[in-house]
Amino acid sequence: MGYILNTTNDYHIRTLNTLGWELTVCNALHPEDSPCRQILKNRESFGTQLFHSLEKIIPFDRLKNVLEVGGGLGYLMRDFLSLAPHLQATMLDISPFLLQKQKETLNGSPVNFREMDFLKISLSDLRSIDLVILNENLGDFPTLVFDESQPKQNDPETIRSIKRMKDYMEEFDLEFAPKENINIGAMEVVEKLCGADIPYVYISEHSCEASMNNAHFPQHQFTARGVPERITLKGHDEFTVKFSHLQKIARSFRYRVIRGQYIDLFPLDFSDRLKTALQSPTPLTDEQEIIQQFVYDLYKYEYLVLIKDSKKKG
Ligand SMILES: C[S@@+](CC[C@H](N)C(=O)[O-])C[C@H]1O[C@@H](n2cnc3c(N)ncnc32)[C@H](O)[C@@H]1O
Repeated sequence: MGYILNTTNDYHIRTLNTLGWELTVCNALHPEDSPCRQILKNRESFGTQLFHSLEKIIPFDRLKNVLEVGGGLGYLMRDFLSLAPHLQATMLDISPFLLQKQKETLNGSPVNFREMDFLKISLSDLRSIDLVILNENLGDFPTLVFDESQPKQNDPETIRSIKRMKDYMEEFDLEFAPKENINIGAMEVVEKLCGADIPYVYISEHSCEASMNNAHFPQHQFTARGVPERITLKGHDEFTVKFSHLQKIARSFRYRVIRGQYIDLFPLDFSDRLKTALQSPTPLTDEQEIIQQFVYDLYKYEYLVLIKDSKKKG
């Protein structure tokens, strides 16, 4: 009885050659005629809407260096740079395929590109960064997956991760249920960012602690499972993220934490189109299927903004 370490590195480095089947909210909102834009109050792209929400709490005009980790097709950063062209951006990604896509999307902007696993970056490389963005990708980082039939582990990476889990329990006063899957990679990411004293951090991912309770759509409500859940995708599995643990780690480093659901950032326009798409439990058309999945994601994704008040610019 023990844990297996789920990782997606091999998939991202060697196999990934499209993001099409893994439709992030960012990419779902990319096409101007996307049905997902039509059901929102604000019909702008993902990056534009996110920027305008974040600028209420992050003084972009006073920031210089921004790092986006796992930027996918690069659309978020393209929007950010069009709204804040003074930013000096670095895109870091483990996937050579996606890094190439980001170069194409950001062609013409003075952006640095780094192909690497974020968990391998040194603290000194992070120290000059004012803002780090991780959008919809923490679930890709390693997860300790509980497996009843697993004999005692002797794989060195798994042993190292189990040891870190025990360290985190002590250091950050985290509690895990006996058979819970553990977002060990996501916790390492947050520990690294806070340890490097990054003034501003934005993170978003599918959450295992989010729920949907909207009287307009009684058939689509869901409650939080509370423990990281497996999401099976093409060629790899990811896990939903336990945000309360990340929050606790950031607070231990004396960060101020702002937490919410995507639905707060991207509010719905309760039009007939939306109501029709959500009135039946199963979709009747392709568009309804897209909208049902999109609305689910708006509730299922959470975000965190971490602010180091003593170090923040301005
Ligand atoms: C689901 S995609 C999200 C893409 C984009 N942020 C978006 O919202 O559309 C996950 C991204 O994280 C990258 N990624 C996964 N593991 C990584 C790691 N360990 N280090 C750096 N990038 C990673 C992937 O290559 C990909 O670009």
